[in-house]
Amino acid sequence: MAVTWTSGYNIDEAVPFVEWGPVGGHQILSRSPAETLTFSRSDMCGSPARTFGWRHPGYIHTSFLKELWPNKMYTYKLGHQFSNGSYVWSKLYSFQASPSTGQDSEQRVVIFGDMGKAERDGSNEYNNYQPGSLNTTDQLVKDLDNIDIVFHIGDITYANGYLSQWDQFTSQVQPITSRIPYMIASGNHERDWPNTGSFYDTMDSGGECGVLAETMFYVPAKTRSKFWYSTDFGMFHFCIADTEHDWREGTEQYKFIENCLSSVDRQKQPWLIFAAHRVLGYSSGFSYAKEGTFAEPMGRESLEHLWQKYRVDIAFYGHVHNYERTCPIYQSQCVNDEESHYAGTMNGTIHIVVGGGGSHLSNFSSVETAWSLYKDYDYGFGKLTAFNHSFLLFEYKKSSDGRVYDSFTITREYKDVLSCVHDSCSPTTLAT
Ligand SMILES: [Fe+2]
Repeated sequence: MAVTWTSGYNIDEAVPFVEWGPVGGHQILSRSPAETLTFSRSDMCGSPARTFGWRHPGYIHTSFLKELWPNKMYTYKLGHQFSNGSYVWSKLYSFQASPSTGQDSEQRVVIFGDMGKAERDGSNEYNNYQPGSLNTTDQLVKDLDNIDIVFHIGDITYANGYLSQWDQFTSQVQPITSRIPYMIASGNHERDWPNTGSFYDTMDSGGECGVLAETMFYVPAKTRSKFWYSTDFGMFHFCIADTEHDWREGTEQYKFIENCLSSVDRQKQPWLIFAAHRVLGYSSGFSYAKEGTFAEPMGRESLEHLWQKYRVDIAFYGHVHNYERTCPIYQSQCVNDEESHYAGTMNGTIHIVVGGGGSHLSNFSSVETAWSLYKDYDYGFGKLTAFNHSFLLFEYKKSSDGRVYDSFTITREYKDVLSCVHDSCSPTTLAT
């Protein structure tokens, strides 16, 4: 488990660490060292991050708590020891250790994009930029006993180069992040800046060019400036892509995606999930539909054969601020007539947009497609519950009331994942 926090102490002032141990019994507390990172104004790529939006970020510490017993509860607190021997301490927090890879136990995953932050007293948010943000945060906090891990897939804070807003965001989500893993993906508002290697040449990051997201949140990427990574959580295997870097065939990221999808043992981890910020699969969002692509251009062209070949169950996206779910689909055709209880071989990947985390809503196109099974112009988030190796539940909940407005189940066995569907298997030989 990685624990990250911010302080005003650089390593020459105090030594950062986490003191932690299992809950109950005669516990022996361990101390794990923390790394310290920071950055300077000259690491910002442009204004406002480099000019009037700049504020020194302090020191960002990350400690790795290792050799955890799966599912066991632990307590921890953050500490700094000064050279004169004195300490400063945080409050005491607790978390449940993650399930081991392939473990058969109930596992619950929340996923959404584009949440941002807001002020509870309305004091500072003159343009009401992310009006659903507090509702989403509050619903998750209320239901924390029933959530094991969160994925916030891009457009994290919408600080857009006003650096203090990262602290505002991390403060808003701290009740969640101090207790369960909070994984992120990179979006346009984290990374995009002209002439800095982002796939899109927009100014959406306000000059942050990825530095804030890459420092404030730990993800198990090889290098965090290339924000793609895989992660395991019990019976789930996640492949998280970075849409702000090129994903097309021949690129480093494409190789990662293929390797991530192909390397999972589906008997141990049957639930294979792909996620990315921008919609690489299918969306009826107004601007995508206007282009006639119903997704980012070059998304499906590059990756759909991989999702099909490696039998991805569900692909999640943000960026479009609404909710939409497709049928199991391949090459723009529904490959399964069922709508809510999938059993046996799936034939294709279900694509879900969960971009209604909080930022102002996006319109749908009036074009009706055969593949769009459910649309909602509202704030909300997705929740996956794997009950065991053969039964998965997906629910879409609105942020306003936390109730379920759309859902489906998948029931299947290992042989159903192995069975060949269109474009998924190599030819067989008649030789015996
Ligand atoms: Fe976005």
